[in-house]
Amino acid sequence: MAVDLLLGLQWGDEGKGKIVDVLTKNYDIIARFQGGPNAGHTLEFDGIKHVLRTIPSGIFHKNAMNVIGNGVVIDPVVFVKELEGLDKYNLDYKKNLILSRKAHIILPTHRLLDAASEASKGKAKIGSTLKGIGPTYMDKTGRNGIRIGDLELENWQDKYRALADKHEAMIDFYNVDVQYDLADLETEFFAAVETLKTLTFIDSEEYLHQAQKEGKTILAEGAQGSLLDIDFGTYPFVTSSNTTAAGACTGLGVPPNKVKDVFGIFKAYTTRVGSGPFPTELFDAVGEKMAIIGNEIGAVTGRARRCGWLDLVALRYAVQVNGVTQLIMMKADVLSGFETLKVCTAYNYKGETINHFPYNIEAENVTPIYTEMKGWKADLTKMDAISQLPQALNDYIDFLEKELEVPIKVVSVGPDRKQTILRD
Ligand code: GDP
Ligand code: IMO
Ligand code: MG
Repeated sequence: MAVDLLLGLQWGDEGKGKIVDVLTKNYDIIARFQGGPNAGHTLEFDGIKHVLRTIPSGIFHKNAMNVIGNGVVIDPVVFVKELEGLDKYNLDYKKNLILSRKAHIILPTHRLLDAASEASKGKAKIGSTLKGIGPTYMDKTGRNGIRIGDLELENWQDKYRALADKHEAMIDFYNVDVQYDLADLETEFFAAVETLKTLTFIDSEEYLHQAQKEGKTILAEGAQGSLLDIDFGTYPFVTSSNTTAAGACTGLGVPPNKVKDVFGIFKAYTTRVGSGPFPTELFDAVGEKMAIIGNEIGAVTGRARRCGWLDLVALRYAVQVNGVTQLIMMKADVLSGFETLKVCTAYNYKGETINHFPYNIEAENVTPIYTEMKGWKADLTKMDAISQLPQALNDYIDFLEKELEVPIKVVSVGPDRKQTILRD
């Protein structure tokens, strides 16, 4: 049985949570494979809006098992708050949520190290979510990390103490102003760990292997976006995991030859939160209008998201690196009311026209080359069939499909589960 992947193709916040929720009815298992509470995945249905951080976006469906894979980093404190937020929905998360023993744990000192590292960088800061993501993955690859499975061992707190002490020395080394009371943070952390231990820990790669043998269907849910990938993103302004398709293999133990469809999700325009280059970024009233209509405020940090036109050079690159088989276009409704739309189809790179995503995309090297398209006025948010879409939007979609050479199978016209139009 095959595994399908759903991945963000831009700088995150494409609408992954909404679409995983929409697709869950077709799957037995939803599995997160990387990232941690830096993610904020928004779901809306029946008039409620919910933001998930580490828990897979299939959690509201009784039919699905939700797996947190080995590639994820878990902050017990944030995780327990997330569980508490779900309490009122009567979900049986002791039954339909399971955690990989090989997933790494974010310690309070990882969060402090994230803050110290950012403070030490000054203007060159990454703009991290300050959730401790970078330091936790550093301890993972440095072979010092503490994993979920360690919580089942007698002496894990000795390991914790040694690592936390080392982190404190590192925080001192940064020599920046980071105020904290570790004793308070530890009280909260150890209490959260006890709650975490009431959940089910498993060898998730074995679980997923057996599930595949039994013919179960699996959807792997990505976090962040391809341009934030540690290898292929706009380094160093990236996150610390592989957000691209290969990350699902290493983050779940799924072999590459078992991957079938790769759903690539993108906004009809582009946004970015945090620092780093963004060739099609708008600094004018048009960008402001996108931000207001699109409600472009980060779900995790409340920061304003930077907005700009769709960048097909970057999107083509993401389609290529991920092997995308089907595209999902989000937030088409946000582009209603613009007289003309621009789409970047190539870059002027140091005076030369190029079509590929180069090593260096800073503004001094890259100027976007745009194709202009006619906009549309209609309110899309009440539409529920492809036949209702305005011709100018159909032209926009046709143009993108031709440029990207992959079909756009879904067009999203609002945040609600129901505001989703299939194109078949
Ligand atoms: P994720 O991190 O990829 O899951 O995306 P986020 O939840 O961080 O950000 C997407 C935002 O857009 C959320 O506030 C969603 O409720 C909202 N959203 C999703 N799809 C649409 C859409 O088609 N139209 C509009 N207007 N909003 C949408
Ligand atoms: P979802 O899953 C958008 C960005 C941060 C920062 C950089 C590094 O909701 O799409 P980190 O805390 O990971 O060390 O921050 O990555 N970032 C995201 N931007 N959506 C996300 O997740 C993000 N997760 C991290 O803003 O620029
Ligand atoms: Mg998000």
